[in-house]
Amino acid sequence: MSLAIIGGTGSLDLFEVIERREVKTTWGDPSAPLARIQLAAGSAWFLPRHGQPHHIPPHRVNYRANIQALSDLGVSRILAITAVGGIDPGLAPGALVVPDQLIDYTWGRVHSFSDDAESPLRHVEFANPFSAVLRQTLLGAADRAGLAVVDGGCYAVTQGPRLETAAEISKLARDGCSLVGMTAMPEAALARELDLAYAMLCVVANPAAGVSDKAISVDEIHVVLDRSMVQVRALFNALEA
Ligand code: HPA
Repeated sequence: MSLAIIGGTGSLDLFEVIERREVKTTWGDPSAPLARIQLAAGSAWFLPRHGQPHHIPPHRVNYRANIQALSDLGVSRILAITAVGGIDPGLAPGALVVPDQLIDYTWGRVHSFSDDAESPLRHVEFANPFSAVLRQTLLGAADRAGLAVVDGGCYAVTQGPRLETAAEISKLARDGCSLVGMTAMPEAALARELDLAYAMLCVVANPAAGVSDKAISVDEIHVVLDRSMVQVRALFNALEA
């Protein structure tokens, strides 16, 4: 039982639940009880990042409790799903991306387990924030499921919950970011601090602010995400045991 999936906006109720487990951690409660789910290749743990029902904003997620709870259950590999805006105009709504880099623009989030005198101080190596092996796991599953997935991209992690200004997106583009979302950090770094392999599947929900002439509609974001979940489910069911 070493695999876990952290689901983001739009990715609740994706899989058949076999069991639910309440887990408490020294950092508080995770976003929801952990669900053991059935995938074609076996079972895995599933944790909805924003709670069930979806109610926790990105800056209020207890990322430490979520990662600690998975670690306490014996998880060693985390595949995370996030909704993103496409900064690269080539990333249309519905596109799937497995990013290989990120830049953290968040502020004020509790972002480390090394936080007080009692916790060991670790300066984790983070040059490549996503596990190369798990990225290949996602890309391989997409290939088997016959799904087009973009291999690589730089995820800009913004604070939210508001969407960005057009000027902010231009700056992120100049910084080299191709995607923007609100949750990859501190999640990815906390996983690294506990030595858990971590990779991410991004679902492009909308062109980022100013990338298209049309204003972003949150209703349309939800329509795109609902539609994309068929592909997301197919990809996870194509994972190998
Ligand atoms: N910006 C930040 N996060 C997002 C977006 C966006 O445009 N779309 C979905 N999540």
